[in-house]
Amino acid sequence: MNSLAQAKEVLASSQSVAVLTGAGVSAESGLATFRAVDGLWEGHRVEDVATPEAFARNPGLVWEFYEMRRIQAAEASPNPAHVSIANLQRRYEDFTLITQNVDGLHQRAGSTGVLEVHGSLWIIECRRCGTSREDRQVPQPSLPPKCSSCGAVERPAIVWFGEGLPEDVYLRGVEAVERSAVFVVVGTSAQVYPVAGLIPLARRNGSFIIEVNPEASALSHMAHVELRGKAGEVLPQLVAP
Ligand code: OAD
Repeated sequence: MNSLAQAKEVLASSQSVAVLTGAGVSAESGLATFRAVDGLWEGHRVEDVATPEAFARNPGLVWEFYEMRRIQAAEASPNPAHVSIANLQRRYEDFTLITQNVDGLHQRAGSTGVLEVHGSLWIIECRRCGTSREDRQVPQPSLPPKCSSCGAVERPAIVWFGEGLPEDVYLRGVEAVERSAVFVVVGTSAQVYPVAGLIPLARRNGSFIIEVNPEASALSHMAHVELRGKAGEVLPQLVAP
């Protein structure tokens, strides 16, 4: 039996599925991944844009960067990988999608209850008075946005380097992985923790791990089946009845 057939068979005979996605799932929607040669951070040093210190120093620069990402994400459309994951969800009572992506493309493809463990481009927060709001307007009327209650500069609800993950969201991801019979890992280099740690956790819990990625990731050796190909091509085949 080939790997794809084996993965399909395991999925068909399982009751509980968790899926983890990274930037690679949105690559075919035209959104750059982080660690590719032409990746998102090129021309932007990470410490210039994605840390609380950078934001304190120069909120305008940080907002320019996230405004660019908001515009790119708004102009992008979900690809067949996002659609396949949304279709897969409809087959299971116990299904959890954990994403490291902040672009919202999974929800636009129809996924529900998505655990956005690295936050979202579409939520803007005020850390002074603790308010947060959904905001999908692109471009924003003025940058940086200010809190309508207290006037402080707001920030995107994104997990920056050196910050902790939203604890409740991440814990729900951990629980879903612990319950899962199958864990599908799509388009992540598996280098950023704690999320990458979900893969060894799944392994310890006896989940059958399917990796979908055109290249090997840092944790490919933990997968039971490695489906080497683009998510937008492999996932429709994996999910097809
Ligand atoms: P990376 O950029 O590190 O990895 C992208 C992965 O996608 C690589 O393994 C590629 O081989 C793979 N890939 C590329 N094209 C693909 C395709 N068409 N189909 C499937 N896979 C493809 O992105 P992440 O692992 O998501 O954190 O990075 C994790 C975190 O690092 C991000 O969430 C971000 C960053 O720091 C925050 O912003 C907090």
